[in-house]
Amino acid sequence: MISTRLVVDRDFVVSDLDRRIFGSFVEHLGRAVYTGIYEPGHPTADERGFRGDVMELTRELGPTIVRYPGGNFVSGYNWEDGVGPAADRPVRLDLAWASTETNQFGTNEFMEWCKATDIEPMWAVNLGTRGPDEAREFLEYCNHPGGTALSDLRKQHGVEAPHDIKFWCLGNEMDGPWQICSKTADEYGRIAHETAKLMRLVDPTIQLAACGSSQHNMPTYGKWEDTVLEHCFDDVDFISLHTYFENRGDSTPEFFGCIEQMDLSIKEIVAVADGVAARKHSTKRIMLSFDEWNVWYKARSINDLRKPGWPEAPRLLEEIYNTEDALVVGGALIVMMNNADRVKAACLAQLVNVIGPIMTEPGGPAWRQTIFYPFAQATRFAHGKVLRPVIESPSYEAKTHPEIPYLCACVVDDESTGTTTVFALNRHLTESMQLRIELRGLGMSRTLDHALALHHSNMKATNTKDAPNTVVPENNPHVQVDGETILAELKPGSWNVIVTTATARR
Ligand code: AHR
Repeated sequence: MISTRLVVDRDFVVSDLDRRIFGSFVEHLGRAVYTGIYEPGHPTADERGFRGDVMELTRELGPTIVRYPGGNFVSGYNWEDGVGPAADRPVRLDLAWASTETNQFGTNEFMEWCKATDIEPMWAVNLGTRGPDEAREFLEYCNHPGGTALSDLRKQHGVEAPHDIKFWCLGNEMDGPWQICSKTADEYGRIAHETAKLMRLVDPTIQLAACGSSQHNMPTYGKWEDTVLEHCFDDVDFISLHTYFENRGDSTPEFFGCIEQMDLSIKEIVAVADGVAARKHSTKRIMLSFDEWNVWYKARSINDLRKPGWPEAPRLLEEIYNTEDALVVGGALIVMMNNADRVKAACLAQLVNVIGPIMTEPGGPAWRQTIFYPFAQATRFAHGKVLRPVIESPSYEAKTHPEIPYLCACVVDDESTGTTTVFALNRHLTESMQLRIELRGLGMSRTLDHALALHHSNMKATNTKDAPNTVVPENNPHVQVDGETILAELKPGSWNVIVTTATARR
């Protein structure tokens, strides 16, 4: 048994938590849209073709915002193809994923789906094959109340009220050589600046995210953000980060080091953005949108990325998640919450079938992958302010990071209800952890509302169509509350959520 300690104080606050960090992502890729969220004729589908079972699981997962329509897909997408009568929409080649895109699902369908699931949209515009002009036209189609050709076209398409989409991404991974019409940092920075200028003239209420590096190990990482922001610092609110965690060496302790790497990347990009602010003598602070993150390395062979013959909705990027993946996803959520002063939006990539927490079979059932649970618990329980955690824990060294504390934790406090939630990962694979939590100034007497743990003795255990409940959360009976102190025993290799409520506060 290892001993650890976690101390927080009501007065030491990182920031209010922006719940847009619990975002997700639906790209026109593989079976994310077709036979994922949309499958006319499925036994649970409604009259719009939205799968009811997927909507139900999405509500349970609880994403607050969903990025759409890509991803790499967006850099070759014509928004006009996906609006108007479905029968008149063109069938196109999707060059990003070597697929046939029928365009039966597009802007107005996605907005309907967002309304039905009570989720905010995060929209990416095409800055690959297209540019500022199409972005401003599309924004006018979506957000202008009426009386212009494009806003009236939306009305003709049956959508009277403007969509009022607030969050816009200026392209996708424009630094990546794989991206359709990728750009140098100077080229992209200029286009991002001009696109932002036009879009803000159409609708000054929007928020804009510029593309950061597509991975922290890109050769231009850091320099890219510096140059891009040099061009568009005054025009944007966010810079994006993307990361996909890998366990290629098949070592769980090494894999857990990715969580520390994510923390490092956040701090590095904050430093770069603030460096640009310093050069510009500006008090403005650019926020971070971690708008693609997840575990993804198993379903990454050429056959997982492209299939011959331009198929419709092929099985691509269908990563099957196991116990250790769920722990890494939980750790990533902890890291983002602990950086809540600068990370104000993030998207688990993606939602369904494509590197998704939800899986489906066409015409068949939908089920929860292992990574579903830490995400769903974070969206359910993390409300309020993130408190600065002081952690005492033994640590270990790995190739992925020189010092990895076994305990990874964050604390979120909701003043309005008196509820304080601790999220904690025990990264020791063989030892239980005795965790002492001191919640200072948060009430002398507390009730224990939930003590939940996600754990499986097999780090490679998965949930499948036939055995969907192999890795599921359980109650942890080894949690006691004593005044301001909580004593918890955490299983080896486990994700834990402890929710307590103060019976009285000063
Ligand atoms: O999420 C899958 C792909 O990963 C996205 O299309 C792209 O942006 C990233 O490289």
